[in-house]
Amino acid sequence: MANRSVIITDQTTGKQLECPVYEGQYGAPVIDIKNLYKELGMFTFDIGYASTAACRSAITYLDGEEGVLLHRGYPIDQLAEKSSFLEVSYLLIHGELPNQTQLDEWNHAIKMHGMTHEHLSRFYQGYRYDAHPMSVLAGVVAAVASFYHSSTDIYNPEHRMLTARRVIAKMPNLVSKIYRYGSGLPFVYPDNSRDYIENFMYMMFSWPTEPYVANPVALPALNLLFILHADHEQSASTSTVRLAGSAESNPFAAVSAGVATLWGKAHGGANEAVIDMLTEIGDAKNIHKFIARAKDKDDNFRLMGFGHRVYKNYDPRAKIIRQACHDLLESMNLNQPMFEVAMELERIALEDDYFISRKLYPNVDFYSGLIYQALNIPTSMFTPMFALARASGWIAQWMEMLSDGDFRIGRPRQLYIGAQRRDYVPVAQRG
Ligand code: ACO
Repeated sequence: MANRSVIITDQTTGKQLECPVYEGQYGAPVIDIKNLYKELGMFTFDIGYASTAACRSAITYLDGEEGVLLHRGYPIDQLAEKSSFLEVSYLLIHGELPNQTQLDEWNHAIKMHGMTHEHLSRFYQGYRYDAHPMSVLAGVVAAVASFYHSSTDIYNPEHRMLTARRVIAKMPNLVSKIYRYGSGLPFVYPDNSRDYIENFMYMMFSWPTEPYVANPVALPALNLLFILHADHEQSASTSTVRLAGSAESNPFAAVSAGVATLWGKAHGGANEAVIDMLTEIGDAKNIHKFIARAKDKDDNFRLMGFGHRVYKNYDPRAKIIRQACHDLLESMNLNQPMFEVAMELERIALEDDYFISRKLYPNVDFYSGLIYQALNIPTSMFTPMFALARASGWIAQWMEMLSDGDFRIGRPRQLYIGAQRRDYVPVAQRG
C-alpha cells in the first residue's frame, strides 16, 4: 500500500501521471510506473537495469552504500561464522532457520536426491576433454530438465519444493563429473555417509584405488565460500533465472540459463579471470604497469576481482573472505609468487586514488579465486563451484517468483533506433 506518490509530467503535452511509491522493509522506495505507457504512452529507459526493481523479494537484502548483506534478515557475517551451507540453503528456500528435526530431515532429503539418472552420465561424452566446465555445466543442467519435464507442475508448491531439493542435491554430482571427465577419471557415485561438502570433494578428487580422506583445511573453507555464494539478490544470473522461469520454462532449463550468465567474467567468471590476471602479472614488480592499464580509458583491461555494481562501500562478503584468505595462506605457509602478487595488488589498489574515488574495492571473487587456488582446485572449476552454491539462491528466487500473486512473464521494452519502414527490394535490383 502506497502512502506517497510521484507525479510525472510530460512537459510537451501537459499530461500527468501520479505514480504510487512503495516502501520496502529496507532500501530505496520504488516508483510504480506500470501505468506509464497506458497514460503517457512512454516507457522508462534504464540500460543495465541500474535503477529498476523488477520484482519484490523477501529473500536477500543488500545495501551497497553501507556494505550490508542479509539473508532472510540474518547478517551474512553471522551465517558465515555459525552456519553450514545446507542450513543457509534451507533458510533461503523456507524463509526461517530450521530446528534440529527440520535440519536433519533437510540433510537427509538432499542426500536422497544426490544421484542422477545413469543415462545423464553419457551426456558428458559428447564434450571435448578440454571443454570449458561452464559450457558442460550449462548443458548437463539443462539435460536434467528432460528427466523431470512431464512430471513437474511448476504451479504445484510440492513439486516446486521437490525441484529445489533436486537442484541442490544434484549440483555437486553434476559439477564433479565435469572434472572427472576432463581428467580421464571414472565418475564417482555420492557416498551418503559423508556430508554435502565432503561428498562433493569425494566425488571430485577421490582415487578409485585408495580410501579418500578430505583435506581438513578445505572443508571449512568450502563451507564458507558456498555460504558467501549462496544468494545475492537480483544479480545478473539470478535475474536471468527469473526471466527464463517467468516464461513457465522447466526450472532446470532456467537454472542452466543462470549458469550461462554466471560464466561471464564480469560476473562469476571473475574468480577464474583473477588467477589468469595474476598469472599474467607474474611478478610484483609488474603491478604498476597493470594498474596503469586498468586506468587507461583506451585499454579495455580491468583489474579482475575489483569493483561491483551495487557495493560502493566494501563488499561484506569480501571482508569475511579476505580474512579467511589471509588466514589460510598463512596457515598453509604457501610461498607461491601468485599470492605475493595478489597481496601487493590489493595493497596498491586500496591506496590508489583512481580506485578509491570510484569505490573499486576487491570483491568476493578476488579472494575466492585465491582460496580455490590455495586448495589446489583446478582454475576452470572455480566458476562451476560458484554455480553449485548459487543454485540454492537461484531456485529459492524461482520458487518465490512463482508463488507471487503478481507473477507474469518478464518482457522488457526498448527504444528502437533502427531503420525506418522501407520496402523489400529484390536482390537483382540492389546496388
Ligand atoms: N578495474 C578498473 N576500472 C574499473 C573496474 C575495474 N575492475 N571496475 C570499474 N572500473 C571503472 C570504470 O572504468 C568506470 O570508470 P569511469 O567512471 O572513469 O568511466 C567506473 O569504474 C565505474 O565502472 P562501471 O563499469 O560503470 O561499473 P559497473 O557497475 O557497470 O560494473 C563490474 C561493475 C562489472 C563488476 C566492474 O566493476 C568490473 O568489470 N569488475 C571486474 C570484473 C569482476 O570482478 N566481476 C565480479 C563482480 S562480483 C560478482 O559478480 C560475484
